[in-house]
Amino acid sequence: MKSRVIHCGLCLLMTGLLLCGCGKKAEEQVEPTLLLGVSQIGSESAWRIGNTRDIEEQADRYGISLMLENANQKQENQIAAIRRFIAYKVDVIAFSPIVEEGWDNVLKEAKDAGIPVVLVDRDVSTQTEGLTTCLIGADFYKEGVMAAEYLIRKADSLGMEQVNIVEITGTENSTPMRQRQAGFVDTLAGDPRMQVMESIDGDFLKSRGAECMRSLLETYGDSIDVVFSHNDEMTLGALPEIEKAGFTPGSDMIIISIDGGQEAIDVLKEGKINCVVECTPKLGKELMETALKLKAGEAVEEVIHPVEEVFTDEMDPATIEPRGY
Ligand code: AHR
Repeated sequence: MKSRVIHCGLCLLMTGLLLCGCGKKAEEQVEPTLLLGVSQIGSESAWRIGNTRDIEEQADRYGISLMLENANQKQENQIAAIRRFIAYKVDVIAFSPIVEEGWDNVLKEAKDAGIPVVLVDRDVSTQTEGLTTCLIGADFYKEGVMAAEYLIRKADSLGMEQVNIVEITGTENSTPMRQRQAGFVDTLAGDPRMQVMESIDGDFLKSRGAECMRSLLETYGDSIDVVFSHNDEMTLGALPEIEKAGFTPGSDMIIISIDGGQEAIDVLKEGKINCVVECTPKLGKELMETALKLKAGEAVEEVIHPVEEVFTDEMDPATIEPRGY
């Protein structure tokens, strides 16, 4: 069965179609297996666009009707979308929370309406326990650990005695920002060579990555040994700024990124990025299978982390498969 993907403006039309059956006789209607409301953060990165596309494709594959809303980077838009999903009585709600706090009220409303909520990609931090059913997303802490472990190996191989790091972080108070930073800092804590000189908020955006890098270069100039950027988008924004300032990324400065989108992998192959930790956006299959189980009243796993790897200048770049996002 072909799934129906309903974007924001079509919600009312959707209700009409569901209620009146689009003029067809009742026996001709194909009942969707499940109606899933998904609130996506926005389109801030190739990762996010790949994640949205994957959710749409998997919904189609599983014959699930999707009400998909793009919140354009605003928490209030996500809250409004979840309220609309409740009003439409969707079977399951899924959302990728832009930040961790501020969801208690709307999640209580979903719980009172008896609609299970699945967290996709990012986590929430709520005052009340049990407002969400499960989380399908990367282990962001481990991503930070993998980035730091690479850096320790690299510093060893170059015989570095002092390592000056600047960090361009993702959206403040978001799970990947908090966890990637914690994993990175915790892993470096035992190594006296490592010093994070500054962490600056790049909001996961390419334009902000460029701005942050300009400001870091003005302050620290050639004392920067390492740029640790929380996503590919910000890294791709930062690289031209490093070049404009007269440095060669990948050799004058060690560049570490996270996501593993095709564009960043191509730049790693050119030698301008040294390490990219994978964060897969392909969470749609697990989401559809979880939603179907919830509809059937079956138990689901509380946390599902995809397996992720790390791509570095230590490996043969020809072995890296096309990324698909
Ligand atoms: O939450 C996942 C992060 O959000 C990805 O690393 C980033 O690219 C996206 O915007």
